[in-house]
Amino acid sequence: MELDTILIHGGWRNEKETGACATPIYQTSAFSFENTAHAAALFDGSQTGNIYTRIMNPTTDVFEKRMALLEGGVGALATSSGMSAVLVTVLTLCQAGDEIVSSSALYGGTFNLFSVTLKTFGIKVNFIDSNNPKDFEAAITDKTKFVYAETLANPKLIMADLEALADVAHRHNIPFVVDSTVTPPPLLKPIEFGADIVIHSATKFIGGHGTSIAGVVVDSGKFDWKKSGKFEDLGANSPYGNDAPFIVKARAAILRDTGCAISPFNAFMLIQGMQTLSLRMEKHCSNAIKVAEFLKNSEYVEWINYPTYSDDPNFKKYLKNGYGAMIGFGIKGGIEAGAKFIDNVKLLTHIANLGDTKTLVIHPASTTHQQLKPQERIEAGATDDFIRLCVGIEDAKDIIADMEQALKAACS
Ligand SMILES: Cc1ncc(COP(=O)(O)O)c(C=O)c1O
Repeated sequence: MELDTILIHGGWRNEKETGACATPIYQTSAFSFENTAHAAALFDGSQTGNIYTRIMNPTTDVFEKRMALLEGGVGALATSSGMSAVLVTVLTLCQAGDEIVSSSALYGGTFNLFSVTLKTFGIKVNFIDSNNPKDFEAAITDKTKFVYAETLANPKLIMADLEALADVAHRHNIPFVVDSTVTPPPLLKPIEFGADIVIHSATKFIGGHGTSIAGVVVDSGKFDWKKSGKFEDLGANSPYGNDAPFIVKARAAILRDTGCAISPFNAFMLIQGMQTLSLRMEKHCSNAIKVAEFLKNSEYVEWINYPTYSDDPNFKKYLKNGYGAMIGFGIKGGIEAGAKFIDNVKLLTHIANLGDTKTLVIHPASTTHQQLKPQERIEAGATDDFIRLCVGIEDAKDIIADMEQALKAACS
């Protein structure tokens, strides 16, 4: 199936028993067994089937299959949030004493997980401040278990050189893990560029309507765990099998033990949202170009960060289908003007989210990145004058008109 067909049909055909055309919400905690032999077979893994919604659920299964098809992976695992998708990935690959090499251009929550919480688990993250793959390579040690980056980093809008980072990771027999939240297909399919594991906060563009917190981890199935020799329980004689041991362990051990399962209702909401993903991304991108052009020419704007105005070849190389919805700009008048701008928007929504149908605006320094130290905030791109916009799919004229009046109110 092609991408647009996967978004509608992936993982689901009309239910045989009832003929239901839309995926039903299997709102049940657990599933009954036919008899003790059936129960035993499900528990020892010799037969597949549903046991308990913390581990799997038929509604969630449709979402997971659709995501795996969409990203070109062999399997996917849905989680309760984007943060738990990151955590499940870390816990599937690392234990105390291990290390991760990660870009420092990260969503603030991920940066905090990596720099504070993982430290208490005995997992060390070596942060790389540059976008240069050589710097990532230099930080890899015997203990490094994976290389991590966001495709288009939130909020810095730096495009990772995916192919080069995948090569670095693979040269050291470790996987390359990416968070592709800001660049969902059809903008980018990171597995095509060497990523081994792809994470999304499905809260964002995947769901698309700002109704459900969710995450997903997709396994490319391409990483050779046996050859790597660095992951004892994923290599030869893995208790998680040989086909896709990473995603099997993520579900059968880490999801089971941490309990960060998605609710069937939220999986249903994502299935609805995904059906328009391709159409929405087209409109997000075309609107963002118009809004960026307006900002570029505005007398109240100091600087603008949108890939159209960058000479970084990575944007053209990796984002052939559009540059996405995220725009960063610096308002003249710094922190005061920034706050005033946000207090004056009428159509735009002031919110700590992205990837909604509505145009969203936030001042990261005082909100999403507030928990970081000042230097860390600068490194993450959340300077005092910085306003982050996620352009929605309303009529661009209305978005621009609202920004124009709010900028005027803030700066004149
Ligand atoms: C790039 C990125 N990754 C992960 C997350 C965390 O996702 P969630 O809020 O669904 O836990 C976010 C949230 O904003 C994000 O922007």
